Amino acid sequence: MKNQYVPVITLDGPSASGKGTIARLVSQALGFHYLDSGALYRLVALAAMKRNVDAGDEQRVVGIARCLDVSFIDSSIRLDGEDVSDEVRAEACGEYASKIAQYSALRVELLGRQRDFRKLPGLVADGRDMGSVIFPDATLKIYLTANEEERARRRHKQLMEKGINANIANLVLALHERDGRDSKRAASPLQQCEDTRLLDTTGLNIDQVVGKVLGMYADSGSVE
Ligand code: DC
Repeated sequence: MKNQYVPVITLDGPSASGKGTIARLVSQALGFHYLDSGALYRLVALAAMKRNVDAGDEQRVVGIARCLDVSFIDSSIRLDGEDVSDEVRAEACGEYASKIAQYSALRVELLGRQRDFRKLPGLVADGRDMGSVIFPDATLKIYLTANEEERARRRHKQLMEKGINANIANLVLALHERDGRDSKRAASPLQQCEDTRLLDTTGLNIDQVVGKVLGMYADSGSVE
């Protein structure tokens, strides 16, 4: 049987740009699968942190990724059978993930796991290199961003809702540092490629952004 083309929408962008929320809602609207690629990096980070592995120890980090026992069931994320959905969202986990994400051997290790999410009727994937490396033939590639203050405010709101205290000025600094590291690394850096459409969400609400992404997808000619 001929292989059927599976449509993919990629949403890449800096931290706290709203990629996760938008990707999930767009996938629900289209009935597509959803890949939160950052969660995979965060899961490796969490597994390494639980084993007291230093982020600088590339060999051990890659070894952990090779044997990673993870599952995504509905909206819950499991590591070694344990529900770690909240734990992986912690700032410390994101920081550690950003540090180890520079290892090309780790990125190669996670490549197949990410591509396995591509199944009919389609996939919405968010991350940093979804359009540039993981799904270069994606149907629609979007670079989602918002200005730094707005992203820090969104992250602040998310943390406060979870009962975690945070300070906006410190969050701006942390986002700035993390985005710098994610964009300047040699291996699959965060970048806006030529075939990627820019979507600046500053001042837009969630429904407006979802509407724009769905509109872009309809315009891409892939909707029958
Ligand atoms: O999207 P996030 O905040 O959950 O991602 C956590 C870190 O993982 C991010 O700072 C960089 C890394 N990452 C990556 O390098 N490539 C991806 N496709 C997704 C995340």
